[in-house]
Amino acid sequence: EKGGYEHFMLKEIYEQPKSIEDCLRGRLDAKSGRLVLGGLRDYMNKFQNAERIIITACGTSWHAGLVAEYLFEEFARVPVEVEYASEFRYRNPVIGEKDFVIAISQSGETADTLAAIELAKSKGATIFGVCNVVGSSIPRATHAGSYTHAGPEIGVASTKAFTAQISVLAMMALMLGYQRGTLPQGKYVELLNELESIPKKVQKALTANEAIKYISGEYKDVSNALYLGRGYNFPVALEGALKLKEISYIHAEGYPAAEMKHGPIALIDEEMPVIFIATQDSSYDKVVSNIQEVKARKGKIIAVVTEGDTTVREMADHVIEIPKTHEAFNPLVSVIPLQLLSYHIAVMRGCNVDQPRNLAKSVTVE
Ligand code: F6R
Repeated sequence: EKGGYEHFMLKEIYEQPKSIEDCLRGRLDAKSGRLVLGGLRDYMNKFQNAERIIITACGTSWHAGLVAEYLFEEFARVPVEVEYASEFRYRNPVIGEKDFVIAISQSGETADTLAAIELAKSKGATIFGVCNVVGSSIPRATHAGSYTHAGPEIGVASTKAFTAQISVLAMMALMLGYQRGTLPQGKYVELLNELESIPKKVQKALTANEAIKYISGEYKDVSNALYLGRGYNFPVALEGALKLKEISYIHAEGYPAAEMKHGPIALIDEEMPVIFIATQDSSYDKVVSNIQEVKARKGKIIAVVTEGDTTVREMADHVIEIPKTHEAFNPLVSVIPLQLLSYHIAVMRGCNVDQPRNLAKSVTVE
């Protein structure tokens, strides 16, 4: 059932070209400029006229929500708030009928997310679910939703569910931008084409596996790690750090790279590996300066870079190349090497990667 892979997690990492394709299938057809999400049909009015989008989730799903914030604000120009379900439900949030709430959950059973949904529903908001497990509690509690169609995720650490969540949210953001006229036709079609090419790019990203395994061997005994990214890659830094913590039990932190100088930089010495997501996008030059700051303090630098990059290669101890895509879709590709890095490090440390200690696949208690 692990399809020849040693662990479910590795199988699920490798499934991503297909799970993303499954998620896009029947919904996105770039050639004809078609983008349809069946679940949205009856709530299109509410979606289009939403004054605000509130995204609520926990853990990795919350990270997907952060990516969605960037997507919705960039393409549809709608204000977005991303809320930890556990905080949202207990802080008497301001919420009403003009709010469109998106609840993201792989399992569809997370207790805090479910409670956040019930609260928002009681205030008259429209609730849309982005879930993976068909027929689970959250899809039943929401007004409407779109499944991620990633297939069963067995490994406790979420991988293919995350990229499928982002795929659904990206389709929603592009659709909303087009409908609201904030995303011009030409740009819209270009982005549809780019999104359609993502499974191939993820496939390509997976070919760095051997190189990542080698890097993992070099760093498997560290006790701390810092993950830094900016823009669309900031949530990816958080996700990379969470993956490492969960399965290898190494303490890791993710930060927006610019926040480093506001505190975390004090941690940097020759013992500290810093994983930069340094793809060629609008924040590239800024990230390069952050890399220089770490290098000046003798931190070890592992950088995820765009294919063919030479600038970062000269500064970093290790680089991992990924294919270029539109920066809005970077997380779908840049998270792949971070999933593999945490996987290999955990295996080398003898950890139970599919069932890490203290964690459960569905968190049905608050
Ligand atoms: C991370 C992880 C958890 C879940 C979180 C939410 O790898 O597994 O952080 O993402 O418990 O779970 P769902 O998405 O099922 O609501």
